Amino acid sequence: MKDASQSKVTAGHATEKTMSEIVDARLSRRTALQAFFTAGLFGALNSAGLGPLARSARAASREDQSTLGFTEIPSVRQQSHAVAPGYSVDVVIRWGDKVVGDAPEFDVYRQSQFAQERQFGYNNDFVGYFPLPAGSSNSDHGLLCVNHEYTNSHLMFPGSPRSAAVTKDQADIELAAHGHTIIEIKKVRGKWTVVEDSPYNRRITAHQTRMRISGPAAGHARLKTTADPTGTYVIGTLNNCTGGRTPWGTVLFAEENFNGYFGGDPDNTPEARNYKRYGLSAKSRYSWSKYYDRFNIEKTPNEPNRFGWMVEFDPYTPNSTPVKRTALGRFKHEGATTIVNKDGRVVVYAGDDEAFDYLYKFITHGRFDPNNRESNRELLDSGTLFVAKFYENGELNWLPLVWGAKPLTPENGFDSQADVLIETRRAADLLGATPMDRPEEVEPNPVNGRVYAAFTNNTGRKPDQVDAANPRAKNAHGHILELIPPGGRGSDADHAALKFRWEVFLLAGNPKDSSHHAKCHPAVTKDGWVSSPDNLAVDNRGRLWISTDQGSSQAKNGIADGMRATDVDGPGRALTKLFFACPTGAEMCGPEFTPDNKTLFLAVQHPGEDEGSTFEKPSTGWPDFKSGMPPRPAVVAITKNDGGEIGS
Ligand code: FEO
Ligand code: CA
Ligand code: CA
Repeated sequence: MKDASQSKVTAGHATEKTMSEIVDARLSRRTALQAFFTAGLFGALNSAGLGPLARSARAASREDQSTLGFTEIPSVRQQSHAVAPGYSVDVVIRWGDKVVGDAPEFDVYRQSQFAQERQFGYNNDFVGYFPLPAGSSNSDHGLLCVNHEYTNSHLMFPGSPRSAAVTKDQADIELAAHGHTIIEIKKVRGKWTVVEDSPYNRRITAHQTRMRISGPAAGHARLKTTADPTGTYVIGTLNNCTGGRTPWGTVLFAEENFNGYFGGDPDNTPEARNYKRYGLSAKSRYSWSKYYDRFNIEKTPNEPNRFGWMVEFDPYTPNSTPVKRTALGRFKHEGATTIVNKDGRVVVYAGDDEAFDYLYKFITHGRFDPNNRESNRELLDSGTLFVAKFYENGELNWLPLVWGAKPLTPENGFDSQADVLIETRRAADLLGATPMDRPEEVEPNPVNGRVYAAFTNNTGRKPDQVDAANPRAKNAHGHILELIPPGGRGSDADHAALKFRWEVFLLAGNPKDSSHHAKCHPAVTKDGWVSSPDNLAVDNRGRLWISTDQGSSQAKNGIADGMRATDVDGPGRALTKLFFACPTGAEMCGPEFTPDNKTLFLAVQHPGEDEGSTFEKPSTGWPDFKSGMPPRPAVVAITKNDGGEIGS
């Protein structure tokens, strides 16, 4: 059987057409029909080739085809945000706002580590809503769990210092601005407000939060340091991108680009091969290694092995210790989403966000018990990690990363399961997994039983590296694949199966620009097209909400990052519509619905991160727009003015 990564094609019209045909075979019947009507399909079709059916597809209004009831907004890059008419946007919490009781008022000119450890951190990404009381579906009162991925020193500190040139005090603030925040929130007269002095309110930081390391790699020699001779605990968490929730009501936060915080030359450590595979280099993005020996790999050579994991935390137990679950593997975790399989085992889907890296899933050995929360506590410590291999014929195989089975054996440098997990990427390389176009969030859809995986972009893919699951060279706009477990729809789907099928859900890009080679619904507008899909959420009708992060391509593409939504089944499949537009420079993160779907929490990350934007002269002052105040990352709550469900 030919696998996707072996189906190399070279540039040229004939082979492009071949790849186009392969992709069409991987579009479901309905989408394939629609794709046929999409002008500019790899240059193989044009509007002259459109038949009467196509014209009627165009004639039918978007409103007839999409179940999403909101009016699409114009995709304009501007200083403030925009939302569909009939909806309200309220800031719930911003960088610097009080989290813990004794936090001082935010003063951007008098920042300190002490203050930042008690205030909302920077660059909010994942947002999780956990109802109060635990186990309820209360949609008016709960805990909000938010990740803080990274810091922008040039927008945080007067004088706009580069990250590599901050002072020790500023580095301390950066460390305290990373991590996670838990706040209790309540809807008061229709507006979400933070409950001050709640015992649940807490900051978890890179600076001071002690975490336990558990699972097969815990206690391994490669995780031991002078500060932790046991290899079982670590201070802090880094680059917490997105995350997930477990069925037993704990939050998962991902450690993504942990490599950028370490200084020193990997070649001067015993872990050179390992560290280079994860992108550590002698040139650190941050200055932390100047001030802290634990971030200098020549002084503390094992410290990077203690990052790159998934962290589990119980927000309902305020003083509980976060746990790094090594069984889920070590890579640049975008996030981790869970679903209870029909047999009770828990399946965790995760992407490794790097060009040419892989898609993973983990299956617990134990079964989830909905009636005994305590019995689920250590479920994520034992199970099997798998990596995805896509085949051109529509099959998807999940390959086990299990020590002892060839090639994960001592002759390849793996002496235990701990070694396999510490070097998950190299183990997956040896298994022949399919290198993807930067895996971001993977979201199971409980309504139709399918799984949606976002691949944000990969302009480094060359024509001879194209395959069916990553069908475009220089993939500037990314794509979304639909993974199909056997067994049937909804809860009949067998997420624990080792063979799935897969389809292309959409190839992102502007369908009106033939150079993008986009594939989506023909009624997608100049405002609704997607570039660089990142986080995903599924609403209670099974519709897919897609956030985007174009990074430095925002200006070139000319569209705002934001929240788009589409049906996944029916005539509106892959018909993306723009619902919320970010202020300039920001990426969209965190989509999270309350159980009643009447609130959508969104995280606006790094507003003002445009080229040339600085603390003194930012491209936007969102959300305060006050003189002297730089832009501040913030979590917003969106509600419908008539009190209805979002998207109704
Ligand atoms: Fe932090 Fe993969 O985005
Ligand atoms: Ca992300
Ligand atoms: Ca991102």
